[in-house]
Amino acid sequence: MYHSIITHLENGILTVTINRPDKLNALNKSVFDDLDLMMDEAYANHEIKGVIITGSGTKAFVAGADIAEFSSFSKEEATALSIRGQEVFQKIENCPKPVIAAVNGFALGGGCELAMSCHFRVCSDNAKFGQPEVNLGLIPGYGGTQRLTHLVGKGKSMEWHMTAKIVDAQEALSSGLVNYVTTNEELLPKVTALMQQILTKAPIAIGKLIECINVAVINDSAFTNGKTGYTIEAEQFGACFETEDMKEGTTAFLEKRKANFTGK
Ligand code: COA
Repeated sequence: MYHSIITHLENGILTVTINRPDKLNALNKSVFDDLDLMMDEAYANHEIKGVIITGSGTKAFVAGADIAEFSSFSKEEATALSIRGQEVFQKIENCPKPVIAAVNGFALGGGCELAMSCHFRVCSDNAKFGQPEVNLGLIPGYGGTQRLTHLVGKGKSMEWHMTAKIVDAQEALSSGLVNYVTTNEELLPKVTALMQQILTKAPIAIGKLIECINVAVINDSAFTNGKTGYTIEAEQFGACFETEDMKEGTTAFLEKRKANFTGK
């Protein structure tokens, strides 16, 4: 089914490994097509409760967009490539199920952008982040200028983009780009444990959280039909009261027992 990614579904967690190790998992058309298909599957398949995205090997998560593939593109082709990448990454960002990036090495250019489109990030201590596109006479095209600014603030985003700075794991942690740093061996166990913790919660509420928190940073009235994030939060808070899981969660608390959520 897939050509450039490997997927493994276990206990509701779909682990997705970008698999072009000889090219440091650079994002070419085949990877984008696979990620797009995989996200359609993640949205639709009830057996998939959450997604972890990582890269093959211990050297790179993703070393960027495939430079060889786009170097001779026209303006129109490049614009279309950017829109295509943005659409796939927005599908990841807006997935109603949790998506966590397990960053196991270089996350440069499109790799950093892929990691930032996930709901949050954990990285190994050898990870390196950056948007080095200016070295190529380029700027990011898959949402990097927007998401890095949201995550680390305008000043750092400006500096990191303009200087093509490569940021190590500790600086990524202190800047808020990643939530935890682990050894390479501990990376997937840590991310899996975080995912398992999330999967004990009410799935519909998790989906609504993702939507509301995304609205807080996207802040685009076209995306929200002109509604503010507060209006959407109030609507989604109300909608939770129509779920069986909300009744189960509040009843379980009052009965001093553990809630058993069914996703309904
Ligand atoms: N696109 C296409 N191919 C890439 C790539 C990319 N973004 N990043 C790495 N590769 C390829 C290299 O061309 C090389 O292929 P080859 O063996 O057929 O020559 C292979 O992956 C290994 O990379 P190499 O550069 O030899 O590894 P390194 O350890 O010396 O350096 C990096 C690692 C990440 C520092 C270096 O590969 C790099 O700078 N990559 C580009 C990063 C970048 O600018 N990304 C933004 C793109 S918009």
